[in-house]
Order: sequence, then structure tokens, then C-alpha cells
Amino acid sequence: MALIEFRNVKKAFGPKVVYEDLNLDIEAGEALTIIGGSGMGKSVMLKLLIGLLRTDGGTIRFAGQEIQSTNERDYAPIRRRIAMLFQGAALFDSMSVRDNVSYGLREHFRLKPSELAERVHKALEDVGLEDTVDMMPSDLSQGMRKRVGLARALAIRPEVLLYDEPTTGLDPVSTERINALILETKRLYNVTSIVVTHDMSSAFQISDRIAMVHKGFIIASGTVDEIKRVTDPRVRDFIDGHAPEDDDVATLLRYGG
Ligand SMILES: Nc1ncnc2c1ncn2[C@@H]1O[C@H](COP(=O)(O)OP(=O)(O)OP(=O)(O)O)[C@@H](O)[C@H]1O
Ligand SMILES: [Mg+2]
Repeated sequence: MALIEFRNVKKAFGPKVVYEDLNLDIEAGEALTIIGGSGMGKSVMLKLLIGLLRTDGGTIRFAGQEIQSTNERDYAPIRRRIAMLFQGAALFDSMSVRDNVSYGLREHFRLKPSELAERVHKALEDVGLEDTVDMMPSDLSQGMRKRVGLARALAIRPEVLLYDEPTTGLDPVSTERINALILETKRLYNVTSIVVTHDMSSAFQISDRIAMVHKGFIIASGTVDEIKRVTDPRVRDFIDGHAPEDDDVATLLRYGG
């Protein structure tokens, strides 16, 4: 049994059909990357999984348990086990780094102040930012904000980590750093990772498996080597258009250094 199972999942917003029939298995401990064009439903998939959105049909199971429910309270145990690094990090600008990182801990766990402080310190240490604990998000670079977002996710010690575009908009050095952190987190904590990205060189670096969403379906999935050999033109166009030969130069050109 896979750790996470999407079965015949349907999701639409009014007339806009995002998923017609989504089927995907994610095994415990693997790093799965979701690729696909803008607006194809990558973020929606992650939000369905943590219950921020509800399916219109089909089932999603986590550890054998069906998680789609109409009762908000039923999601609390799931949100203790699955953490998400949101697209754009989504830190609270009016809160210090400390308060941002401890947010999920305070919401989901009853910890003594000393334990709370220790967990915050450890999570920030894991991303190399223990010195920023008293700073405000506005004091940080974009790459650092993403790392604080990751520390906030790590602080709850999740079994599953969802990363929505963790490297988009970052310079090459910060991108490498985030990719290394994703790999390191997986190695250290044995977490199952689901990563959404446009960046094929990151995808090739961090993934055990890659799945591509296109117009309501998963149109390809496989290991990095298998995906590199897919001949479907929709997959080829995406991979070839998003995997620059000289990654650093291309990234610099795109983001102007
Ligand atoms: N809460 C919502 N209400 C209405 N439509 C939505 C909502 N969330 C997403 N959508 C629509 O669903 C589709 C899929 O959105 P989603 O955010 O998953 O795209 P994405 O693949 O993550 O794109 P990007 O790469 O640009 O982040 C889009 O057409 C989007 O406009
Ligand atoms: Mg998105």
C-alpha cells in the first residue's frame, strides 16, 4: 500500500475543470516531483492533500485512511503529519522568525516553553539560519525567507513535506542550497517529499520519481531516467523547454543575476 493514494479524483472550480481523473501513488520515503504547466493544478493537488481544498469526487488516502471529510476537525491529525512549504514561503510579515517557525507547533502541539524554544532552534539550525531568530521576515532575502518557511515546516517533524515551487525566483546559489536542503531533510528525517517545480534541473537532482500533470490527468510518471526517455511530445516540450543546458547561465539570464 502506498503512503498516499489519489484515486479517480475530480476537482473543478465552476466551469474550470482542473482534475478529471487524477490517479497517483506516493510511496513512503520517496521524493516525488510534480511537473506541469502553469495553471495545470499542481498547487491544487497539494492543497487537496492537506484539506485546504475538497475534491468533487474520488478518494485521497493517507496511510490507508481516507482524508476527504466535510469536518474541518478531522484534518487536525493530518496537519500534524504533513507540512507544506507554500509557494512564495508565505511567512507572516508582522511576526518574528521565531514566531513564524513556532506557529505550527503552538497550533498543533502542547509543548513547554523550553521544548518550544529548542524545536525552533533545531529547525532553524537545520536550514542554517539559527542567527535570524529575532529578525523580521522583511530583514531577510528571498532565499532566506524560503529557508525560514522550510524551518517552520520542519519544526513539526512531519512525515510528509510538500514543497510548492521551492526554488522559483531564487538565484542559482540559493537554488542549489534549497535543493541540497530538500535532499538532506529526506536523508536525515526519512520524510516523504512531494515537490512542485518548473525547474527541470532541480527535478532531476532531487527526485526519485517525477509525475507530469496535464489538462486534468497525470500523463507520465516514472524515475528520472524513465522521464528523460519519454517520447510523448507534451512531456518532451515541457522537459526540453525547462531544462537549460547551462543551468546557471540560463537562470542568471532569466532572473537578471
Ligand atoms: N481557490 C480557487 N478558486 C478558483 N479557481 C482556482 C482556485 N485555486 C486554483 N484555481 C484554478 O485552478 C487551476 C489550477 O491552479 P493551480 O494553482 O493548481 O495551478 P498550478 O499548476 O499550481 O500553476 P502555477 O505553476 O502557476 O503555480 C487554475 O486555473 C487556477 O486558476
Ligand atoms: Mg502553483
